[in-house]
Amino acid sequence: MPNKGDHNILIIEDNPGDLALVEEFLFEQIESPVLSHVSNFVDAKNVLTNAATAFDIILLDLSLPDKTGTPLIEEIIKVSANAAVIVLTGYSDLSFGLRSLSLGVSDYILKDELTSLSLYKSIVYSTERKRIALALETSEKRARRFAKQLNSVVEEERLRIAREIHDEFGQQLSGLKMSMASLKKNNGVSSDLQPVIEAIVTDVDNSIQTLRLIANELRPALLDKLGLFAAIEWLVSEFERKTGIQSKIYVEIDQPSIDRTTGISIFRICQEALTNIAKHAAASLVSIRLESGVEMIKVYISDNGKGIDTRTLQNSSSMGLLNMRERASLIGAELNINSVPGKGTNIELKIKTNGNEDIDSR
Ligand SMILES: Nc1ncnc2c1ncn2[C@@H]1O[C@H](COP(=O)(O)OP(=O)(O)O)[C@@H](O)[C@H]1O
Ligand SMILES: [Mg+2]
Repeated sequence: MPNKGDHNILIIEDNPGDLALVEEFLFEQIESPVLSHVSNFVDAKNVLTNAATAFDIILLDLSLPDKTGTPLIEEIIKVSANAAVIVLTGYSDLSFGLRSLSLGVSDYILKDELTSLSLYKSIVYSTERKRIALALETSEKRARRFAKQLNSVVEEERLRIAREIHDEFGQQLSGLKMSMASLKKNNGVSSDLQPVIEAIVTDVDNSIQTLRLIANELRPALLDKLGLFAAIEWLVSEFERKTGIQSKIYVEIDQPSIDRTTGISIFRICQEALTNIAKHAAASLVSIRLESGVEMIKVYISDNGKGIDTRTLQNSSSMGLLNMRERASLIGAELNINSVPGKGTNIELKIKTNGNEDIDSR
């Protein structure tokens, strides 16, 4: 004998005979079901959007007088909140049944095969699946928020260290250089010491250069001063200078302003892509294309190197690629990495410029 329990169920059914049967089955298995009933889509939508009570289960007949099939499922799913939707239908169509599951339906049952027990089982399983899905969704949201927070903390920290290195340490070394220069001019210093002082000044100069490079790698000043596109152009020219790989960059900008978080994320994705090319691709040519329109920013990075094999591409523990995907998803961007072994790699990043309002609520 199945367990009894409370359930708050909305039955959306226009056929009085089917309704009576479903109600009878429900009362057979559940001690005190709370049942509501509507017989068309408009009423269902009203009840679901206005109801003070939340439903656990929606039993949906697939052919209502004012809406049927896929559009009906899509509309009901939109307003179903936390309720599991079970479709009851007279038509046996396995492929439609499968498709409806991908629309977010919990179960798809043929009316001919309906028994009180199969209906009850479906309700229990669907409620449980929905509970697990909601818990998973909450935990994914939490993980996403954490990743976002982590990225921004890392960026702030890099900025802080870069400034400290540049401003504090850099100033001190410049001071040291000036003192050495005035010491050199001092008449009291013996001529033996002159070359030593000169060597120290050269060392200090080199250290200042190195510090600048380190600070810039941590957080390119250009990114904050001149914005994303200038920073990427700099990144590409540095890449070409350091690796000797011929690099072509095409820039088409109609809409130059991009918010800070998006800009930093795009920059970091490009940085990782170019680092990977330098480290792994053995390429002789790299091409970068930046397009920024009113609605969309697109970035393409392709190399003619050895390509990434499918297993590596799908390996979720590969940190650089993982981080690129994570950053893309945090700014609501689409990232596609396509690679043909032996032929090279194409990376495509697309960001809707007006689609970022809800990043914080993700
Ligand atoms: N442009 C590329 N060309 C060839 N292989 C690449 C390219 N980008 C990434 N790979 C391969 O994918 C692997 C994973 O990259 P990534 O996650 O950045 O890790 P890492 O760079 O630390 O090895 C690399 O080890 C390399 O084998
Ligand atoms: Mg890498």
